[in-house]
Amino acid sequence: MKQFSKKENLSFDDILLVPQYSDITSRKDVSLRTAIGRGTKKSIGLDLPLIAAPMDTVCEWEMASAMRRSGGLGIIHRYMPIDKQVEQIRLGAASGRVLGGSVGARGSFISDAQLLVDAGAALILVDVANGHSQIAIDAVKHLRNVFGEQVHIMAGNVSTWDGYARLCDAGVDSVRVGIGGGSACTTRVVSGHGVPTLASVMSILEKIDYKLDPAVIADGGIRNSGDAAKALAAGAKAVMVGRLLAGTDESPGEIVDGRKVFRGMASREAQEEGRGSVSGVEGIATTIPYIGPVKNVLEDFKAGLSSALSYTGVDNLVDFHFESMYNRVSSNSLNETKPHAKE
Ligand code: XMP
Repeated sequence: MKQFSKKENLSFDDILLVPQYSDITSRKDVSLRTAIGRGTKKSIGLDLPLIAAPMDTVCEWEMASAMRRSGGLGIIHRYMPIDKQVEQIRLGAASGRVLGGSVGARGSFISDAQLLVDAGAALILVDVANGHSQIAIDAVKHLRNVFGEQVHIMAGNVSTWDGYARLCDAGVDSVRVGIGGGSACTTRVVSGHGVPTLASVMSILEKIDYKLDPAVIADGGIRNSGDAAKALAAGAKAVMVGRLLAGTDESPGEIVDGRKVFRGMASREAQEEGRGSVSGVEGIATTIPYIGPVKNVLEDFKAGLSSALSYTGVDNLVDFHFESMYNRVSSNSLNETKPHAKE
């Protein structure tokens, strides 16, 4: 066995961004605008760099619409029959919202994608666990051939520059980056594989042109606006989250005893319900507290990120990436970082 990288593979809690001189007088002077895509082609503009994960306890059309209203984006999950997903896209698109749909990498994925695009999806995600696989790469190539430049293609997930570059060669506009970091994910436990999400983003950004190359979407393990700030500082154009948005009015599922179900898409429960069969369980199912309208979560998130930019002394996300600095911190500093007034 060879060592892949001698660099420290940092995760969110290993670093803190360093406050710098700032002439930002109000968080309102800060823009959180971003665009995901390749350079200017088929870019999707977002006023908030946040994407709802295509999970069956996170994103259907209500969440996707709420995300869009707040300036973000939602991608509808694919654990439902294609005609139901088409209906979901229609419902969201009817109010003029830009939504994403998701497909697999085998079987009917091309005709599924066509139906989703016809229904108004602006983005098609090839939603597979391992974006390093030839199957994922071939699926992207095939979609690009069929749709030309008409539709934004996102794919993933990858954890290295090699994986990112292969998907780029196949024709993606944006790449989900992060393997095994998701809050309901057991991939690292089951397979021993993964790279900290922040380290993946950092290693890819070392080799690419932030402004021109397909967008990096940091995905997995982002627990709050502080984690998101670190991922965006590292060069992600947007972050994708599941757990952060679950448990709200707009996430699918009933409220039982003040809680809602949240589960990984590779959990036994999600597979059984979504596909009718189970293979390779790599996720958990749990319940989390119900927390009301997602709008509140999104407002807090926006305020937190705006604060991040103002601490770095910049008023936009491009400058944030280029100007931000971090320090490696000790594990003891975590005690200081987390609220400790109650101890
Ligand atoms: P957070 O931490 O925001 O992560 O909840 C959301 C991301 O987790 C991934 N995901 C999974 N990964 N098994 C996995 O290995 C699963 O069952 C699973 N479900 C979701 C996915 O990348 C999502 O965006």
